[in-house]
Amino acid sequence: ADVNKGEFAHYTIKEIFEQRTSVKAATYQEEHKIKVFCDTIAAAGNIIVTGSGTSYHTSLITSMAGCRALKKRFEPVMASEFKYNMDSIDKDTVVLAISQSGETADVLSATKLARAAGAKILSIVNVSTSSLARAADVSLAINSGPEIGVAATKSFTGQVSLAYSVLDRISGGRIGFDRDAVSDKITKMLAGSAAIERLVNVTMPKVNDIYLLGRSIHFPIALEGALKMKELAYVHAEGIAAGELKHGPLALMDKNAVVFVLNPDDKTYGDTLSSAHEVKTRGAKIIGISNVSNDIYDAMIEIPKMENELLYPLVEVIPLQLFSYYLALRNNVDPDFPRNLAKSVTVK
Ligand code: G6P
Repeated sequence: ADVNKGEFAHYTIKEIFEQRTSVKAATYQEEHKIKVFCDTIAAAGNIIVTGSGTSYHTSLITSMAGCRALKKRFEPVMASEFKYNMDSIDKDTVVLAISQSGETADVLSATKLARAAGAKILSIVNVSTSSLARAADVSLAINSGPEIGVAATKSFTGQVSLAYSVLDRISGGRIGFDRDAVSDKITKMLAGSAAIERLVNVTMPKVNDIYLLGRSIHFPIALEGALKMKELAYVHAEGIAAGELKHGPLALMDKNAVVFVLNPDDKTYGDTLSSAHEVKTRGAKIIGISNVSNDIYDAMIEIPKMENELLYPLVEVIPLQLFSYYLALRNNVDPDFPRNLAKSVTVK
């Protein structure tokens, strides 16, 4: 396996840049396997999607997108919570388990319990020889190559890309995922890395509390961005469904808060802009991630317009990964191997 850092200072930044090609690699699948995988989802009465950490965020996105593309309920369940949510599982249930390593104990234990209750198991992994690949009736691999950095980066966009191509295949293209178009757009986002580095080192005051706001398909990216900031830079960060702001988090907003607003001009735009006004009024600094500029943003990260709003997560997450990486460097943290964390948590 190719595990040297090449021209890059850390595995994490190398892996962030590898997303230019790994999103494409994720969608090359053996015909008979992807067919059975898709047929199993199409025939399911009841679909549960599970994973841990970043792979749980993929589960949230897959569930929202699955529901929209197939007009069928998908239920996301955190792998660590799975055993408390077993009551509806039966032989018409399909459990789709998502894991980069395929060795996460919580995920393996969820699939074991689900199988005992009669469910069929599908998995999406990066390591094709892993325990989770073997535990499934059908397993697809995202072909990202080794991910060494403890915090997941390329495996996340690979998982989302594969899930989208599966859903497109079943629905006759309702998501409209085009691997070449997505790869081009990610490449453009990565070309802006110096601007993100500047944002961290020059534009942003010292940050202690970061909030990320997003609705709908952007909410899982708010969670994923916050997870990256915690893992890589040891900064307190919180992803918030923007509509929940008024139910509590607004009390925390003051001039020391830095708030990322995930706000492309899709059907969440107007409501999320109102949320941005709410926090701005309390003095918070706002970083907009959008394809349209607005005076309300203290800084803006431009993303391209996407044909279908479900595709935004694949470009929105890139500046958040980069921001977390540069923030780790600024905080003198080794981004590849954060304290107290393991790449693969094989104990419960
Ligand atoms: C660990 C890692 C996370 C990862 C999670 C799930 O906690 O530090 O980055 O998202 O495990 O890993 P998996 O291999 O199951 O995707």
